[in-house]
Amino acid sequence: RRVAVLISGRGSNLEALADHAGPYRIVLVVSNKPEAPGLDLARMRGLPTLALSSRGLDREQFDRRVGDAIEAAGAGTIVLAGYMRLLSPAFVRRFAGRILNIHPSLLPLYKGLDTHARAIAAGDTEAGCSVHLVTEELDSGAVIAQARVPIHEGDTPEDLSARVLAEEHRLYPQAVSDFIRNGSGC
Ligand code: GRF
Repeated sequence: RRVAVLISGRGSNLEALADHAGPYRIVLVVSNKPEAPGLDLARMRGLPTLALSSRGLDREQFDRRVGDAIEAAGAGTIVLAGYMRLLSPAFVRRFAGRILNIHPSLLPLYKGLDTHARAIAAGDTEAGCSVHLVTEELDSGAVIAQARVPIHEGDTPEDLSARVLAEEHRLYPQAVSDFIRNGSGC
């Protein structure tokens, strides 16, 4: 039930996770960007934070430090919330089946970046967000929850992003709660 949240930026999903009364407790917020606004949101809520710069470290070394901090905090589940750094295979293996991510598309559509612009360019009438288990391949693990929104005529990527983000804030705390209740996390 102890969860670590990994961020790199704004932290609006972290905020939604922290403000949701669920069966989990956020015991650590890690950012690979010391200037991430999400760190302030965490501190304002009294959550323990760790800002780790990756300068001078290779991916494995950096991830080993992050993993050690997560274990020291006693977190059994890792929740990625706008964490814009690829995880090393060693890290994914270390926490196999216990890492979740939220991606702003209806996976398996639009893995990677610029999901909203790509959905609009394709003429899709629907978009959404997906919560999935993290595996070594980017945005490719099993999807455990999805939410859908319409794409309206004339939508800009920013319009769509805002519509999807509102759903992310609803979906992610719910999906993390379900994941933990079903005993998949410790
Ligand atoms: C969200 O759109 C999420 O789906 C993606 O990165 C963004 C993070 O936003 N993975 P925030 O930092 O949670 O506000």
